[in-house]
Amino acid sequence: MTINTNHPTENQARQMRENHPQSYNCWLQYNAIDDVSVASFYRSFCQSFVVLCDRTPLINSAIDELQRGITSLLGETPTETGKDDNQLVLGTLEDVAQEDILDRISLANLNEEGYCIRMDERQHQLYVLGKTEKGILYAVFHLLRKMQLNEILTTEEVIEQPVNQIRMMNHWDNVDGSIERGYAGLSFFYQQNRFSRQWDRMHDYARMLASIGINAVTINNVNVHQVESEFITAAFLPDVARTADIFRAYNIKLFLSANYSSPMQLGGLSSADPLADDVREWWKEKASEIYAAIPDFGGFVIKADSENRPGPFTYGRTHADGANMLGEALAPHGGILIWRCFVYNCHQDWRDKTTDRARAAYDHFMPLDGQFNDNVILQIKNGPMDFQVREGVSPLLGAMKDTNQILEFQIAQEYTGQQKHLCYLVPQWKDVLNFDTYAKGEGSFVKDVASGSLYERPLSGIAAVANSGDAYNWTGHPLAQANLYGYGRLVWNPELSADAIASEWITQTYGNHATVLKTIKEMLLQSLQTYENYTAPLGVGWMVNPNHHYGPNVDGYEYSAWGTYHFADLHGIGVDRTMQTGTGYTSQYFPENEKRYESLEACPDELVLFFHHVPYTHQLHSGKSVIQHIYDTHFEGAEQAEQLREQWKSIKELIDEERFNDGLTRFNLQVDSAKEWRDIINTYFYRKSGIEDEHGRTIYS
Ligand code: GCU
Repeated sequence: MTINTNHPTENQARQMRENHPQSYNCWLQYNAIDDVSVASFYRSFCQSFVVLCDRTPLINSAIDELQRGITSLLGETPTETGKDDNQLVLGTLEDVAQEDILDRISLANLNEEGYCIRMDERQHQLYVLGKTEKGILYAVFHLLRKMQLNEILTTEEVIEQPVNQIRMMNHWDNVDGSIERGYAGLSFFYQQNRFSRQWDRMHDYARMLASIGINAVTINNVNVHQVESEFITAAFLPDVARTADIFRAYNIKLFLSANYSSPMQLGGLSSADPLADDVREWWKEKASEIYAAIPDFGGFVIKADSENRPGPFTYGRTHADGANMLGEALAPHGGILIWRCFVYNCHQDWRDKTTDRARAAYDHFMPLDGQFNDNVILQIKNGPMDFQVREGVSPLLGAMKDTNQILEFQIAQEYTGQQKHLCYLVPQWKDVLNFDTYAKGEGSFVKDVASGSLYERPLSGIAAVANSGDAYNWTGHPLAQANLYGYGRLVWNPELSADAIASEWITQTYGNHATVLKTIKEMLLQSLQTYENYTAPLGVGWMVNPNHHYGPNVDGYEYSAWGTYHFADLHGIGVDRTMQTGTGYTSQYFPENEKRYESLEACPDELVLFFHHVPYTHQLHSGKSVIQHIYDTHFEGAEQAEQLREQWKSIKELIDEERFNDGLTRFNLQVDSAKEWRDIINTYFYRKSGIEDEHGRTIYS
């Protein structure tokens, strides 16, 4: 096969599909159903199908998927016919309004992405129905998932709808082809300062995202550099529009990260002052130009006044001024402005206790509650710091009663092993979603803030930094696909358990062998604790090498030479964030949480060093001293990393060679890295504290 390297267009995807089918297809393997009764159950419906609604690109995607999936799962391609017996019926609820087949009451409040799957009473027809065409697409993926899981549908109606309205993926891809915090190769969106035009690969990606319910993407880094600033100009808009077409066919809206100072960089204006008339006018005209190219453009995501990015502070304006100015430009076109709350002074002096970085988002945004326009949403990272393996939940979540909010997670494993280590993040995300903010009394969970239900906000949802790249398995570590899958499924329905999501993912990805399921599931569910065990202890965070953030470096901090994140000295460790003696960060929580974190006695062990500075001899609720906890968890974590490798090796014969070897290479790296972490952390704290390990193990390397 000749590959035209100048215009990769379809070649990369085709080549990947042909050469690496299992790795590339992720959870959409569609392996032939080997259970005879399950296959025969589905065969009775899947010979043919009828489409009751109009054909649109979205419906075509649903039909393509249905045909592709069923052909592969059952070995027969369903044909499209008129209304017949024994068939799949695709349409909207409206299309079957005359038929007496549905429990109308339970469907009355279904949202526009909701769907219903139902067998007719004679068990001749399987209705795959959406409230709108969007729901039909999701219903098809639901059906195919059930088939892949070998599950027979009962006569009971399946009714589903997404809990979160915006379910977004943020790509931090740069137009030069690199990905900020990318651990799965290069970008498939771009190369060499232009769009890569690998439309086929983007199409495969869109399918994958739709299968887990994602409905919004940004396709460029939140740090918008020079060339990416030009995405909103004629030089790039045609390629952006083409990309939007691909995603649109899978119900995914395209957004762009934009440069706050575009009026200066692109428009030659002398400022980007949000209250200046020429700046406001410039953005309005820009928005009209974008919408002329992409009529359903989602809007902008903005990172401003943070980590050296420009923003309204330069002009003495607030972030509400900046966000509303952009919101106004987008509003006539139905666009949304997403403004990130990851705003802090990275050059702060850590010795100065009044400038705790954890306080920054709340301090900046809480006073602005109620000042943001209706089409503006604030995007808030799950923790107040930066996607650490353990940190408190952001106190800003739930605090702003009159502001639209989106929760931000990071699927890319920046601080959690960079897709060389196994770290299944769904349990962490569940802890965040189930965190009770007490914003409206007991039971005010983060998941209700994200879904918008707590304050009945018009716009809400969840976004996450993607972990995908141009690797043939999309995520580098083959098991990191579980985080991508898990994110989508959890955001669709936050009630799904980490265990159930893992089972779904493993079965669809590796088949339904009981040992494979059991082994990989145990590995996934143990992996976050393992990673936490051998890295930064008790919520203190970081301790990674500066800049790239991989591997241990207890005192590493890239932005300044002042101090450390952990305040360890000869006597103790931890950040005093109390009101009594520390930074006062605890006061940002609602009283119930404030009390719990303020008190050393009440503070949960796993966050004790996030909230308190304590002597190494401080006794945890577990009965161990802090120093002994550090030693024990680091020995244990390194051993557990070895166990993960052994567990992986135990299923060598049961999975394909490519994915096995890709996994093994990474488990080898993880085992070495875990030992390095163990030795560096234990040695550091042994030298600082001078306290021996109770079990007499050799501490220092
Ligand atoms: C982290 C990350 C950066 C990123 C930033 C952000 O600091 O290391 O690469 O730009 O988060 O979320 O904006």
